[in-house]
Amino acid sequence: MRPYLTFAIAKGRLAAYAVDALTAAGASCEEMRGKSRKLIFYDEENKYRFFLAKASDVPTYVEHGAADIGIVGSDTLTEEQRDLYEVADLGFGKCSIVAAGPPEAEKLYRSGNNIRVTTKYPGIASDFFNRMRRQTIEIIKLNGSVELGPKAGLSDLIVDIVETGDTLRENGLVIFDEICQVSARMVVNRVSIKMESERINELIKKLKAEG
Ligand code: PRP
Repeated sequence: MRPYLTFAIAKGRLAAYAVDALTAAGASCEEMRGKSRKLIFYDEENKYRFFLAKASDVPTYVEHGAADIGIVGSDTLTEEQRDLYEVADLGFGKCSIVAAGPPEAEKLYRSGNNIRVTTKYPGIASDFFNRMRRQTIEIIKLNGSVELGPKAGLSDLIVDIVETGDTLRENGLVIFDEICQVSARMVVNRVSIKMESERINELIKKLKAEG
């Protein structure tokens, strides 16, 4: 048995919900809510170790075994396509991935090829347009504020997550299609699921009971 079971948790919109869920399941990780620059947190009673990482890095930590467990959105898991064991839909962090754009771009979206799409999700966008819709598109990868793409003339459309819809509304963009729904998932390293099965299954049971 390893001295600590290590959790990589996606920074940002999911983190507070993840701390709520873990706390309800008996873990001590409240310290992660603070604004300190500390990167690693310990729960000595349960022998848990936690760190916050950029969402797209969480699957990397788990795949390589630097973390036994990851808590991250299904959007990131679909995009990253890592070799991980998904053990639970945690039910929070619900949002959708959509194709959206200015209303005047809908005709182009419905009929056109060579559409320029800005997105943080090049894999999901290319699967949707090339495979599902059989449209040839140019994907322009951005790392944030994807809605700026069409506003600034960099793209015709976006593929991005929508939670409240406020960002789209405030920027005059409308949804053309929902590509998939998203929620937070718990993923486990393929070796850890065998070596630490008892501790991990006990935790999943508690998370599900409280969820
Ligand atoms: C996400 C997403 C949208 C926004 C949607 O960005 O990329 O911009 O949230 O949320 P809403 O529907 O509730 O308005 P995030 O806040 O993660 O920041 P980023 O743009 O810097 O990636």
